[in-house]
Amino acid sequence: MKPCTIIIFGATGDLSKKKLLPALYHLNIENRLTSETRIICMGRSDMSQNDWTSKVTEYVSDKARDGASPEALENFLSKISYFKCDLNNAASYQELNSLLTDPAQGFSQNIVFYLSISPSLFGIVGDQLAAVGLNREDNGWRHLVVEKPFGYDQKSAAELENILRKNFTEEQTYRIDHYLGKGTVQNIFVFRFANLLLEPLWNRNYIDHVQITHAEQQGVGGRAGYYDGSGAMRDMIQSHLLQVMTLVAMEPPADLNDESLRDEKVKVLKSIRPISHDMVDSHAFRGQYAAGEVNGKKIKGYLEEDDAPANSVTETYAAMKVYIDNWRWRDVPFYLRTGKCMPESKAMIAIRFKKPPQELFKNTDIGASHANWIIMGLQPDNTLRIELQAKEPGLEITAHTVGLETVETEDKKHKLDAYEALILDAILGDRSLFLRADEVDLAWKAVDPIIEKWSQEQDFVHTYPAGTWGPEEVNRIFDDSCHQWRNNI
Ligand code: BG6
Repeated sequence: MKPCTIIIFGATGDLSKKKLLPALYHLNIENRLTSETRIICMGRSDMSQNDWTSKVTEYVSDKARDGASPEALENFLSKISYFKCDLNNAASYQELNSLLTDPAQGFSQNIVFYLSISPSLFGIVGDQLAAVGLNREDNGWRHLVVEKPFGYDQKSAAELENILRKNFTEEQTYRIDHYLGKGTVQNIFVFRFANLLLEPLWNRNYIDHVQITHAEQQGVGGRAGYYDGSGAMRDMIQSHLLQVMTLVAMEPPADLNDESLRDEKVKVLKSIRPISHDMVDSHAFRGQYAAGEVNGKKIKGYLEEDDAPANSVTETYAAMKVYIDNWRWRDVPFYLRTGKCMPESKAMIAIRFKKPPQELFKNTDIGASHANWIIMGLQPDNTLRIELQAKEPGLEITAHTVGLETVETEDKKHKLDAYEALILDAILGDRSLFLRADEVDLAWKAVDPIIEKWSQEQDFVHTYPAGTWGPEEVNRIFDDSCHQWRNNI
């Protein structure tokens, strides 16, 4: 490990409090930040170093897996400093540059800039950093980490890209999709490519369809103001679920090099069958939660949330059918769905196989054949379940479904947060778990016709009571009348 300087823009914001600072704290405990590594927290408000360290103590203690031992905390706080910065003011950046280049301060010139700020500010921050030469790699590397949303459609994403590209190269840019930092999501890759058993079956000859589900019990809470301009299709499907899909569908890469991996993911996204405007209704569905009950607790409807505009048709539930037109997957539907205020919080992949070609047991007590399933639970636990048919004990020929199942529950003390893996990779310069510009572009291309059509249809949205699995009408996107959502693992 080499020392580096981590500069967080927007350090007083929610993401930094809840995710970034606790992740850095845990990396420090694991000795992944060298003793010379320093963290500069940029914020707008006037704050003394003491006030900031007591705030950081509070944020970190809240999440610390070790209960925040005084020694670990002291060591972490010694790395942290607060820097008051007006993002629009050139003088702030000159001051920052003088601080960083002052030999007496001993800051490493390998720098991670973490932009945990609104994308509308990426341009100004990039320009100002470049104006003082902080994007240049003469004395050390410079990595720019950016958070989603990367635009709100293909066009705006391209504009954002141009803004970033003015001052930082693609090699310097780390676009975060926190799903790729989850160990269980990385396990899709290992499960597929560290086993020989699956590969012969992993294609259109044997797989009937694939379901990728993300459900969460929470509603939008205080985020309705932001969320209303986004909706579930942009917030979850365009980003996280399409990423999970690429891992399920990709070809084995030539090696584990970050570009080899991302090339394969891009090939999947390029092969997505375009959805024209008149196909939207048969390929996508949206819904919005109404008042209901989750876990025995009364929940208000989306329209009653603070800051939700009256009559908004923004979807809190979205489903989409994707076809990947390549040799492996042509005509196999991938059903992606996500929803807030669902009965459970879980994410899973359910793969349904085709039925055996011959109904050998039709006239026995076994009856019509059943399809096999492979289910991969991504959260809350890492679960793998393979369902097969087996004969029941006894003289009769009857069968039942047996599930071969493993559940790996990480003990709380060692449960890694996705941000730990991602920040570490951004420091190490490994971009495999970050999105490349072309991935972002193609993911927007896949959903753009849907969000465009929905934005034109402002008069109606299906609703579902909070605490249910979404509107029944979603089933219209199924290809086959025997398809149905699988909610349990
Ligand atoms: C975020 C979305 O990117 O992912 C949130 O903006 C969503 O709306 C969250 O709740 C889900 O992430 P996770 O890790 O809780 O499944």
